[in-house]
Amino acid sequence: MSYPYQIKSMEEYQDAYRLSIEQPELFWANIASHFKWKKAPYGKVLNWNFEEPKIEWFKNATLNITENCLDRHLAEYGDMPAIIWEPNDPEDNHRILTYRKLYDKVCQFAHVLKNNGVKKGDRVCIYMGMIPELAVAVLACARIGAIHSVIFGGFSAQAIADRLYDAQATFIITCDGAYRGQKDIPLKSVIDDALIGNRTVQKVIVCTRTRTPVSMIKGRDLWWDDEIHKVETLGLHDFPAEEMSAEDPLFILYTSGSTGKPKGVVHACGGYMLYTNYSFVNVFQYQRGDIHFCTADIGWITGHSYILYGPLSAGATTLIFEGVPTFPDAGRFWSIVDKYRVNILYTAPTAIRSLMGFGLGPIQNHDLSSLKVLGTVGEPINEEAWHWYHQHIGKGRCPIVDTWWQTETGGILISNMAGVTPEKASWATLPLPGVQPILVDEQGKEITESDDDGIQKGNLCIKFPWPSILRTTYGDHERCRTNYFATYDHLYFTGDGALKDADGNFRITGRVDDVLNVSGHRIGTAEVENAINMHAGVVESAVVGYPHDIKGQGIYAYIIYQGNHGDENLTRQDILQTVTRMIGPIAKPDKIQFVQGLPKTRSGKIMRRILRKIAEGETENLGDITTLLDPHVVEEIKNGRLV
Ligand code: WT7
Repeated sequence: MSYPYQIKSMEEYQDAYRLSIEQPELFWANIASHFKWKKAPYGKVLNWNFEEPKIEWFKNATLNITENCLDRHLAEYGDMPAIIWEPNDPEDNHRILTYRKLYDKVCQFAHVLKNNGVKKGDRVCIYMGMIPELAVAVLACARIGAIHSVIFGGFSAQAIADRLYDAQATFIITCDGAYRGQKDIPLKSVIDDALIGNRTVQKVIVCTRTRTPVSMIKGRDLWWDDEIHKVETLGLHDFPAEEMSAEDPLFILYTSGSTGKPKGVVHACGGYMLYTNYSFVNVFQYQRGDIHFCTADIGWITGHSYILYGPLSAGATTLIFEGVPTFPDAGRFWSIVDKYRVNILYTAPTAIRSLMGFGLGPIQNHDLSSLKVLGTVGEPINEEAWHWYHQHIGKGRCPIVDTWWQTETGGILISNMAGVTPEKASWATLPLPGVQPILVDEQGKEITESDDDGIQKGNLCIKFPWPSILRTTYGDHERCRTNYFATYDHLYFTGDGALKDADGNFRITGRVDDVLNVSGHRIGTAEVENAINMHAGVVESAVVGYPHDIKGQGIYAYIIYQGNHGDENLTRQDILQTVTRMIGPIAKPDKIQFVQGLPKTRSGKIMRRILRKIAEGETENLGDITTLLDPHVVEEIKNGRLV
């Protein structure tokens, strides 16, 4: 059994693409007919304008995404594994949840939520490690119509507190702790800190994983197992799925932008379901029974779309891995591929580059012959890493899909389709059906010129909505407009620069705004600066990115520090500690240079262009520095540059 909308050849791709542009509503209505709706999509398929912006897909239709991820598979695929779970420690037992089992658990936990007062539209924050119960928690929220906001386990108490406040969350689902490689993260204790001063959260449900001691607050904190036990005692089983409008929010996911505060990207039930399923089935060319292993964390959009919703709505088997690629050794991914006969492996360039560093030893003795398709996501993949992945992991016989997309896009927008459309090392290649990318110049004019090789270069925009485009940023629609729809009229601006070749292939070159991509994680420079500036001794700071062999980009901070700080290295440690407290360890600068002044224009604006060049090691051609208030600071900064 395959998928009727699965594209099987370049010709089919071209036909689908043409139809999706000429008659987008008809195109998506056809796809929609393959899903389970409560009220079928009829009438107007799409209402939109990018001015407000307002985007509505299948506004009149109703559904519950979990009926598409669970119920509709039960009759035929109830005994098929939905989730294979591989624990952090390979010596521990793995778990397999069939579709039937997952359905039962989601229904049970939906009862738990309901018994504790969770209602449709409530915001539920989920802060858990990568265990099957995380999938259960997410799906149970969706079943009851609550809006989940999953927060990656690496974020600090302060970062969680900010997100709880922004979303006005009333419930939290967490674990006692999480295992990640050698580390043991005390999740519940972080949540306790995040809740100091919080006025909205009523209950915290705690799932047991690590047996780390926790303090349970009376009237607020509940054990997951106790709550499940109550549901069992009451004999509750099926949970009727809440009827959701296609445009009701499904989840919020916070992501960084060029301003200090992360924004809550909101995705809608119907369009997100259609597009994650469609892109999953087509990009990876998923075949029934294939084992799909996406190595991302569910705390990021990649995990939402291609560990959970895309695969499960397609009735696929998805592998959830609790650990890290280098524990207990650098062969962990390959041993998992071998152990479960993984067919599709989807990972990040940063992981590939870091594993390359261990040589070929960790690959030997693992049978990788089950692999059919390889994928990458999160940042541009350099050719060296691409070829290593292709040759040593895919043994030259697996297509690599280089998938470009963003938290805001919900699903993959630009990518080859495995074995169906051509691949090109370090190019994301062609847009998926329904996606209309264009390159523009700084004024928003479409690029028409190309260089001698037929390559165009510009800022990447999308000119027509696709079903899983973000609908708003939570609680602040104006922010959504200014961030994505106001830079250029009538266009969604991605924040990325790109090249386009004469065949229409796209190559993403990286962010053109003040957003860094560190190991595939998005971090705003302003956010890091705000965190650094919280340190009592810091007067001012400026953060830029610089090329990093493994992480893609590293974080370079220039800091003006008041008075003498004795041992510079101790001060650096203190500042890193502050950043860890304010955001989390992922935002820690790789390099901190103390400076006397920052290069500013007469109007007081920091000239990051100069700082970026110096961090990159370019100290000669800094461009025009005559407009600087004090050009001498540049000399001092150049001389103190850290290598
Ligand atoms: C940014 C989005 C989408 C899931 C992971 C990151 C960069 C993403 C690619 C790719 C080049 C890529 C872009 C984008 N990016 N995929 N295949 N090639 N760059 O999601 O945190 O929302 O970050 O990641 O710069 O804007 P995100």
